[in-house]
Amino acid sequence: MPGIVDDIVTRARAAGKRIAMPESEDPRVLEAAARLAADGVVEPILVGPKPDSLPAGVRHVDPATSPRLDEYADIYLELTRHRGTGPEVAHRAAAEPLTHAALMVRSGEADGSVAGARHTTAETLRAALRVIRAREEIRTVSTFFLMVHDDEALGHNGAFIFADCGLVEEPDAAELADIALLSSESARLLLGCEPRVALLSYSTRGSAEHPSLVKVREACRILQARLPDLCVDGELQVDAAIVPAVAASKAEGSQVAGRANVLIFPDLNAGNIGYKLVQRFGGARALGPITQGLRAPANDLSRGCTAQDVYEVAAITALQAAEENE
Ligand SMILES: CC(C)(COP(=O)(O)OP(=O)(O)OC[C@H]1O[C@@H](n2cnc3c(N)ncnc32)[C@H](O)[C@@H]1OP(=O)(O)O)[C@@H](O)C(=O)NCCC(=O)NCCS
Repeated sequence: MPGIVDDIVTRARAAGKRIAMPESEDPRVLEAAARLAADGVVEPILVGPKPDSLPAGVRHVDPATSPRLDEYADIYLELTRHRGTGPEVAHRAAAEPLTHAALMVRSGEADGSVAGARHTTAETLRAALRVIRAREEIRTVSTFFLMVHDDEALGHNGAFIFADCGLVEEPDAAELADIALLSSESARLLLGCEPRVALLSYSTRGSAEHPSLVKVREACRILQARLPDLCVDGELQVDAAIVPAVAASKAEGSQVAGRANVLIFPDLNAGNIGYKLVQRFGGARALGPITQGLRAPANDLSRGCTAQDVYEVAAITALQAAEENE
C-alpha cells in the first residue's frame, strides 16, 4: 500500500511528540532532524556533542553539560543497582548520549527516542530495556517489521506486521504469546485494521508432530485465553496463513488462514531470515525493527539506514508515544 508510510507521517504530525535522537554527530540523523522539524512531524531533540551547525527548529542537549546530569545519574543508579552499578558507573552512563536519551524518555523530557545509526541493535535495545523498561503487564519486549508489498491482495492491502525479527532469540510459549499480543496492537496502530494473527510454523494444525510445535500451539492457547475476541490461529504454515486457496484446503473454517496480516515467527532465526527473504526476493519494503512493549517507545535503526529511514522511524515512534498516552 503506497500510502501507508505517508499516512503514518501525517498522523505523527498531529501527535506533536518530542523525539530524542542521541547520534548528533551522524549526518543522516542531522538531515532527518532538520526535515522532521521543518515539516513539523516531530520535535527532534539532538542528544550528544553540539553539531557544527544546528538545524533550524532542532533542540540540542549535551549530556556532559546538562543541568539534569546528576539527577539522571541517580535515576540510573536506582534502576541498575541490582546489577551491581555504583555511583561512578551511573554518572558515566548518564553522561553517555544513548543512555541519556533513554533517561530523558524515562523522565518525561522526551516522548520517545530513535538511535542505531551508529550503535548496534544490542546496544540500542539494551539502553532502552535497562532504563525505560517493559510495560507492567508485559513480560517480553519484542520488535516487529512493518512490511509493505506491492501485491495489495496480500495482508492488509499489501501491508503486514512481522515479529519477532530482531530481539527475542528463543521465546517460550508465554513470550511468544506476548510477542503476538503486542504485534496485534502494532497492527491496529500502524495498519489501522483489525489484526488477524498467524502463529507460523512448518506445520498446519497438527499436520506434523515435533516438540517445537508444542510451544506454538501453547502460545496460541495462551493468547486465546487472554484475548478471546482476537482473531488468532496457529500453528499455520505461511502459505496457509496468507493464500486463501491454500487456507481452504489446509485450514478450513479458520478466521485467520488465508487472510493473516500479522505473522508471528517461532524464533529469531526464522523471523530474521523470513523478513529478509520477503524483502530481498519479494521486493517488499521493510521498516524496522520497531520495538514494542516498552513503557515509552525507543526505536532502533539499521547502521546502513538513510536519512529517510530515520525520518520514518521517528514518525512511527511519535505514533507509538501518542498511543501510550491514550
Ligand atoms: C537486546 C539484548 C541485547 C538484551 O540483552 P540482555 O543481555 O538481556 O541485556 P541486559 O541484561 O542488559 O538487559 C537489561 C534488562 O532488560 C531485561 N530484558 C532483556 N530482554 C528483555 C525483553 N525481551 N523483554 C523485557 N525485558 C528484557 C533484562 O532482564 C534486564 O533486566 P534487569 O536489569 O532487571 O536484570 C539481547 O536480547 C540481544 O542481543 N538480542 C538480539 C539483538 C540482535 O542482535 N538482533 C539482530 C537482528 S536486528
